[in-house]
Amino acid sequence: MWNRRDFLRLGGTIPAAAFAVKASRLEDVVAASAAVADRSPEEVAADEFYWREIQEAFTLDRTLTNLNNGNTCPSPRVVHEACKRYMDMANMLPVQYNNGIGRNITTLRRRMANEFGCDQAELAFTRNASESLQIAQNGIDLKPGDEILTTEQDYPRMLTTWDQRMRRDKIKVTRIQFPVPTTQDDLYQRFERAITPQTKVLHFCHITNLTGQLFPVQRLARLARSKGILTIVDGAHALAHFPFKLRDLEMDYYGVSLHKWLLAPIGNGLLYVRKENIAKTWPLQAVPDRQANDITKFEQIGTHSFALRAAIGEALAFHQAIGAERKAARLRYLTLRWANKIKDNPRVKMLSSLEPGQTWGLAMVSIDGIPASALSQFMMDKYRIVVNAVNGGQPPAQVFEYSGLRVTPNVYTTLEEIDTFAEAMQDALANGVPAPTGGRGRGGTAPAVAPSGRGRGAV
Ligand SMILES: Cc1ncc(COP(=O)(O)O)c(C=O)c1O
Repeated sequence: MWNRRDFLRLGGTIPAAAFAVKASRLEDVVAASAAVADRSPEEVAADEFYWREIQEAFTLDRTLTNLNNGNTCPSPRVVHEACKRYMDMANMLPVQYNNGIGRNITTLRRRMANEFGCDQAELAFTRNASESLQIAQNGIDLKPGDEILTTEQDYPRMLTTWDQRMRRDKIKVTRIQFPVPTTQDDLYQRFERAITPQTKVLHFCHITNLTGQLFPVQRLARLARSKGILTIVDGAHALAHFPFKLRDLEMDYYGVSLHKWLLAPIGNGLLYVRKENIAKTWPLQAVPDRQANDITKFEQIGTHSFALRAAIGEALAFHQAIGAERKAARLRYLTLRWANKIKDNPRVKMLSSLEPGQTWGLAMVSIDGIPASALSQFMMDKYRIVVNAVNGGQPPAQVFEYSGLRVTPNVYTTLEEIDTFAEAMQDALANGVPAPTGGRGRGGTAPAVAPSGRGRGAV
């Protein structure tokens, strides 16, 4: 265990190379949080002694700096070990134990509902946000001519889902464009102006996967409800990233990936369905009529492993041990740390708002004159930093004018890693970067350059 004196000897920063074998247990995280309970989240955000405890709770490859947590996050050791334990258990006699674990998932439903602020009868576990959102998108009745209002910056798979319904059911899909960053009022007015008598659904992100643009969910949900319109909110990047309660947002459907900011094992998602909509939403796989009102109808997908799902319990405990406010404040602190070092350079463009309450651990930046794909490859080749290049595409993909690096640190990210990223950006600004070579060296992620916007893969 490190003590404060060891830490101060290092001048208050912790080199990534100094990471030893100490394994933080959940109790250590709880104890560390108890020790700072009298201080504000913003103060704790800058306390490296506290975050050292969190950093040690993960088993990572520290030879790479992961600034693409927006794709999928590693789970802390306690979560990963729980997952393996449940797997071992299920394998002893699957019919007994896998199904047994499955029955106990109801405990997690209650705990998740308590933490994220809704009735447990409104929460279904899924495999990811894609599944959650498609249950809503494909599960509601629509007739030819009905209109969906969404945006050009919604997630590609969700846009594809609407496009497929358009072909299948002859509905109309209208995509709104908006500049980034923009205000809550601007987004509200763009939707308000676009609503027609045919509009049946508003579909938008809580924060986008591109620049982290925040949407006025509650105001849009109220506007929609006043006109008999449903709201489907893509919360893939929002839940467990910054604090809010689902019931306060007032939307009809909300889809989440739990393998993003909750740090649950890969293959976990959550679907919130407002109670009054459960009966009128068709599940992905058929259920008997008597289950029409039961939220678990959305979980009927045939045989699957409950071990992955059961480990959500530890992920939630880890989230609670840090505390939602402390986590959000730290993510914001890390973002501001790199952004403040480079943002005044006239060639640097911040595509995310840095105002309080707008941006936490997901922000986008570009450098005038350097293509994002070349910059991301430079980050990998010279600095071993994994960071995603985002480029706007052509229909039917997302269509937007900007491009940049989407930078997503996490609670385990060290200040040294953040500072190295800022230094790498300064290097690129001063010396330029080589032309990209078509995706080589990006650690197995999608090709660096995707001129058409397709093939960018998930970001
Ligand atoms: C905004 C948004 N929606 C939906 C998804 C789909 O998430 P998943 O791949 O976990 O299903 C993502 C994934 O990155 C996303 O960023």
